[in-house]
Amino acid sequence: MNKVQAVISASKGAPVSLETILVPDPGPGEALIRVQASGVCHTDLHYREGAIGDEFPYFLGHEAAGVVEKVGDDVDNVAAGDFVIIAWRAPCNSCRSCLRGRPWYCFDSRNATQQMTLEDGTPLSPALGIGAFAELTLVAAGQAVKVNPAADPKAAGLIGCGIMAGLGAAINTGGVSRGDSVAVFGCGGVGDAAIAGSKLAGAHTIIAVDIDDRKLAWAKGFGATHTVNSREVDPVEAIQNITGGNGADVCVEAIGLPQTYEQAFFARDLAGTVVLVGVPSPEMKITLPMIEVFGRGGVLKSSWYGDCLPTRDFPMYIDLYMQGRLDLDGFVSESIGIGDVEEAFHKMERGEVLRSVVGLN
Ligand SMILES: NC(=O)c1ccc[n+]([C@@H]2O[C@H](COP(=O)([O-])OP(=O)(O)OC[C@H]3O[C@@H](n4cnc5c(N)ncnc54)[C@H](O)[C@@H]3O)[C@@H](O)[C@H]2O)c1
Ligand SMILES: [Zn+2]
Ligand SMILES: [Zn+2]
Repeated sequence: MNKVQAVISASKGAPVSLETILVPDPGPGEALIRVQASGVCHTDLHYREGAIGDEFPYFLGHEAAGVVEKVGDDVDNVAAGDFVIIAWRAPCNSCRSCLRGRPWYCFDSRNATQQMTLEDGTPLSPALGIGAFAELTLVAAGQAVKVNPAADPKAAGLIGCGIMAGLGAAINTGGVSRGDSVAVFGCGGVGDAAIAGSKLAGAHTIIAVDIDDRKLAWAKGFGATHTVNSREVDPVEAIQNITGGNGADVCVEAIGLPQTYEQAFFARDLAGTVVLVGVPSPEMKITLPMIEVFGRGGVLKSSWYGDCLPTRDFPMYIDLYMQGRLDLDGFVSESIGIGDVEEAFHKMERGEVLRSVVGLN
């Protein structure tokens, strides 16, 4: 049993706190990871606001890279000393989706079997089956994905959630390719990654939409060809104007609000694709004219984790990063300590950062 300090969300809406937790040694099929860096994602804030579930206390943090400390029995994909990114999708190879050859949708993704707990034995709910604002965490070995150890852990960890979600929303779910026009709603870490992914995939027009000019300036740095401040102008009209009156081939919603989803829906060209990657709260509803859903054709999709297959995608994006073709460092706005996560949430809310990254070990 290992004792470490962890960032815990104890109850709905309450500020997070640092608590001592107990992390078991790895059992069969598990790996204990020494976390080196863990990014602060909006999903962590959604947990602490009670928007994802009611299984408090949550052990936050889920965008992390580190080194395998120990593995349990029956583990052959990683060994002690390997540099890994932790994934929240570890395909089971036996659910109906895996059996159909679609492991990137796995419906029964693996997590550690043993529970991490508070010192008094209260079981913790690790965010996205990870829990990474701590020096050590226990995961299913399949969640640990080996990548080039020369990569900076602060940048690499971001591939473990938000940046992968954005890259994959554009490339895997949206199918963005050469010559497409793309509009991205919300230019936080996830939206900017969708912009970077659209650029990698060869989109010729990439329109960034946000209500914050500072975010729009950053979006340009990741490859946006046009920016729209939707506080100042109607984004649907603006996108139509930029695309010759047509709308964008692919619209990515990276906020999680009904209003911006509807904007994405109407800013799309005929036969275009809407990709919802922003996470809505349970009470949200959208209203769309059904005739438009029919008449515009195309597809309305949701993207979980960018439909990524971690073992295929993580090493590839780290290689692109090492070659200078994917600017992961650009997402790291600041490096913070483990006690600074609550303040990082406020910076995120004020729009001051793309990612604050907790440095550990
Ligand atoms: N689907 C997935 O797999 C997945 C993975 C990671 C994160 N997410 C979700 O993606 C969303 C974005 O995450 P993030 O970390 O980039 O968050 P963020 O807070 O850093 O970014 C959100 C951006 O949206 C902008 N925004 C807010 N309201 C707006 C509006 N009305 N119109 C236009 N822009 C607006 C903000 O200015 C900000 O730039 C969150 O909902 C998060 O939970 C989804
Ligand atoms: Zn499966
Ligand atoms: Zn995340």
